[in-house]
Amino acid sequence: MLAEFRSVRPRIKSGRASFASGPKVASACSPGRLNGIRITKDLPPLPEMMADPMQLQQILLNLVLNAVDSMPNGGTLNVRTSFDQGAGIIGIEMADTGKGIRREHVDKIFQPFFTTKPKGTGLGLAISKQLIEQHGGSITVAGNPSGGSVFRIHLPLKTLESAATA
Ligand SMILES: Nc1ncnc2c1ncn2[C@@H]1O[C@H](COP(=O)(O)OP(=O)(O)OP(=O)(O)O)[C@@H](O)[C@H]1O
Ligand SMILES: [Mg+2]
Repeated sequence: MLAEFRSVRPRIKSGRASFASGPKVASACSPGRLNGIRITKDLPPLPEMMADPMQLQQILLNLVLNAVDSMPNGGTLNVRTSFDQGAGIIGIEMADTGKGIRREHVDKIFQPFFTTKPKGTGLGLAISKQLIEQHGGSITVAGNPSGGSVFRIHLPLKTLESAATA
């Protein structure tokens, strides 16, 4: 499955990044699944970027599903985007108030097949990391000061001009 996935290259398009609004992400956030999870969003308008919208959606879906899984008794998922104009970098942050990640697991969660879930494949984060890196970006995780985890994605903004000259 991972090998199959490796052959997928981003279909880079220009488009306004509409994070956390794709239909799959929306259905992952449907009330039946959410069990008392509150979603808060801080999504300022972002510039146009060059990216594969389906892949961005898959990345965000994986993170949302993980956050939901980490909060079986409810909690808060905060989704926040930002844009650093000087550096030309879009930031996406997903912070949950879930179980958190054990210190000894932090180095392993992006490895293929690492899972702590009875029915997990352990591919969600490995695939997300690979897709993000194919876009020239990075993903990191940290503890959420209010309990839980914070995943941060940085994606370089590639404008049409920079793509044309690349
Ligand atoms: N938001 C989170 N809170 C706590 N633990 C997390 C979170 N996200 C990931 N993890 C940990 O990282 C592991 C790997 O995550 P990953 O998404 O790669 O696989 P999975 O969720 O276990 O399986 P799948 O994605 O196939 O359902 C999880 O099993 C879990 O232990
Ligand atoms: Mg997962």
